[in-house]
Amino acid sequence: MRTSWARLAEAISGCAGCPLCESCTQKVPGQGDPSAPLMLIGEGPGEQEDQSGLAFVGPAGQLLTRMLEAIQLPRERVYICNIVKCRPPNNRTPLPEEAEACAPHLLAQWALVRPRVVLLLGATAVRGVLGENYRITRCRGQWFERRGVPVLATYHPSALLRDPDKKREAWTDLKLVRRMLVELGQYPDLLKEEP
Ligand code: URA
Repeated sequence: MRTSWARLAEAISGCAGCPLCESCTQKVPGQGDPSAPLMLIGEGPGEQEDQSGLAFVGPAGQLLTRMLEAIQLPRERVYICNIVKCRPPNNRTPLPEEAEACAPHLLAQWALVRPRVVLLLGATAVRGVLGENYRITRCRGQWFERRGVPVLATYHPSALLRDPDKKREAWTDLKLVRRMLVELGQYPDLLKEEP
């Protein structure tokens, strides 16, 4: 049976699939257009996300909003979520078993949104979606296919805040995403002239 958004919200809020649910303030399922052509996947909630219940609202989220605007996409028109829905203590990287325990929620989101393009933000999203052996440094900026959908990886916005030299490559990646969306006829009201 196909899941519904209501059933998924219930499954996430009641989830005790790994110990992260014991230390977080609240679950952060993700948000945005529930049938967005573009789905973004990050790592996991940080402090501000844990407090607000919303994905990517802290400093990395603010940079992400600007990155999307630079390719003419308002963030309300995309769907944004994370590999894990609970904040790891002290913002540590989620463990592979935590990512695995949370994967059914991500797969359900993917099935419900039915994105035409997926953008992975950073190393954890790369490992979670492409596979444990994939590395962000090697695979960013290249197209892969998962579940019949073109998938591209770029640096996590937190990595760009730490190392602004990476922004040039991230900009190249974002333009690839934009070009693919245009090729697939998505966001015709927004994506007209190349930035
Ligand atoms: N970093 C992430 O990966 N996800 C968020 O929601 C916020 C920061």
